[in-house]
Amino acid sequence: MNIQKDKHSQTETAVKEKGQQGVRLTPIYIMGKRYEVPEGLTIMKAMEYAGYILVRGCGCRGGTCGACGTVYRKPGDYKLQVALACQKTVEPDMYIAQIPFFPANRALYNFARLRAAPEEVFKLYPELFRCVACNSCTKACPQGIEVMDAVSALKQGNIAEAAQLSFDCIQCGLCASRCFGELAQYHMFQLARRIYGAKIVPRAEHLAEMVKAVNEERYDRFLDGLKQAKEEELKKLYQEREAEPMTAGEDWRPKDATYL
Ligand code: FES
Repeated sequence: MNIQKDKHSQTETAVKEKGQQGVRLTPIYIMGKRYEVPEGLTIMKAMEYAGYILVRGCGCRGGTCGACGTVYRKPGDYKLQVALACQKTVEPDMYIAQIPFFPANRALYNFARLRAAPEEVFKLYPELFRCVACNSCTKACPQGIEVMDAVSALKQGNIAEAAQLSFDCIQCGLCASRCFGELAQYHMFQLARRIYGAKIVPRAEHLAEMVKAVNEERYDRFLDGLKQAKEEELKKLYQEREAEPMTAGEDWRPKDATYL
């Protein structure tokens, strides 16, 4: 996340005034400077409240883009903690620092030419074998991923397991920032997931059938009808549609199977 301090908006005086209007404030330290911010704010909102402008890399605000990696420490605690600024709420007296970007090795490759073989990963990321199994990466992961286990799977050539273990990775890079071996785990995992998704998982037959039906223009008339429909008509169609039950089994079919 890239940030800059807004000199013109929320000064410390303005912050104090808000506190006097009955909002419960809590003290935090951003880049070493003390601010009082309303309780319950996320770190990201607290920074904006304190006058920081988020210039770039704070797109999703929903815990999925990985751009807001943050480290913090609480008083009396030796441990450096990690969090996503858009998810973690402020705690009294926490010392916060943003990690705007963490430079990590990212291999270049022509994906179409890669084979679904562990040697491809070893060749592109030989530093994989510098892992000393210290588990710092796992402790640093705000997504709760067993990062070290996924690294071990890759070392053993198990691309599928590495891909599955790292499925929730949002590429924030906090694992790499704590790694003794200088690994860029998140880039390695991305490669594993790409290989797994494109070259290992069997092709879904039903998807191929559906693509064929779309190419044969089977849905064109229906879609054209929707495009012509008025808003009220669309709302009615949506509300009256037969939705798939939450607990439906694999064999569930709608009553109207015209388009299946
Ligand atoms: S802003 Fe996207 S994960 Fe926080």
